[in-house]
Amino acid sequence: MSNKKKIILDCDPGHDDAVALILAHGNPTIDLVAITTIGGNAFLGKVTKNALGIMAKAGIKDVPIAAGCTRPLLREVEEAGDVHGETGLDGVDLPEPEVELDLRHGVDLIIDTIMGSEPGSITLVPTGPLTNIAMAVRKEPAIAERVKEVVLMGGGIHEGNWSAVAEFNIKTDPEAAQIVFDAPWEVTMVGLDVTHQALATEEISARIQNIGTPLSEFVLGLLSFFRKAYKDNQGFDHPPVHDPVAVARVIDPSIVGTVRAPISVECQGSSTLGMTVVDLRPGCTPENCHTQAAQTLDTERFWDLVIDAIQRAG
Ligand code: BDR
Ligand code: CA
Repeated sequence: MSNKKKIILDCDPGHDDAVALILAHGNPTIDLVAITTIGGNAFLGKVTKNALGIMAKAGIKDVPIAAGCTRPLLREVEEAGDVHGETGLDGVDLPEPEVELDLRHGVDLIIDTIMGSEPGSITLVPTGPLTNIAMAVRKEPAIAERVKEVVLMGGGIHEGNWSAVAEFNIKTDPEAAQIVFDAPWEVTMVGLDVTHQALATEEISARIQNIGTPLSEFVLGLLSFFRKAYKDNQGFDHPPVHDPVAVARVIDPSIVGTVRAPISVECQGSSTLGMTVVDLRPGCTPENCHTQAAQTLDTERFWDLVIDAIQRAG
């Protein structure tokens, strides 16, 4: 039996989701067992088309991919066009898909994959709004004790990007996020406190350029669009490449330091909607606390992993 870590990537590509897919596929310790898509950075049809194009570009075959929910549980869809452009993946040309979409709903692909695998063998890695994951655990609550853990990109202890205190993935579907943080499984929140350190500097771009393959050119195209979007809309000199940080945490937990603490989601506040509230007060973390929040990132080792994965894809 393979010792690789099995993951399901639930994503909304998205420039940084694309890098997360490339890292998950290219890292030799990860077995990417399913991909599901969720409306988020752009509408579901667009992000699913993007995921299929990224798979073709990165040579990801033999991995089932299914489209999930079109919209949040209670709220309207909100695209992140300022950050990801009209297509959700502006700045690159995508090849034609080489695989067919799985005919199942994404939520069912998640449930079937977990229930059909050894208990404790699958890690769920959501890098978009948490609607599919919340629906899956509501439809089949047994997945909560069957997964190894959930390692999600979203939220933050002290930082927001979609409002002063809320992050995009959580703010898009706060009720789904609350369901995911409340379910009885291990959840690690890889939030903005660390992903804002995963900056694609010019030095990182130069290292990627040196690889000199069609895939490295593709990643450079993604980063170049992302750089301008983050500069123009959020005042960053270098774009934070959020989503692969969650994958890196699965590959090597020591790259992302965490603190164990209760996490809840603000679902009602008029100026705090979607805020992840991490209770760091001494003595307030019960012994059976099942949630952790990321606090530190080993940036150098993170980029080494990403660059190695691009190289290995050839
Ligand atoms: C998150 O929101 C999306 O725009 C990115 O893909 C990432 O998942 C960052 O807030
Ligand atoms: Ca994303």
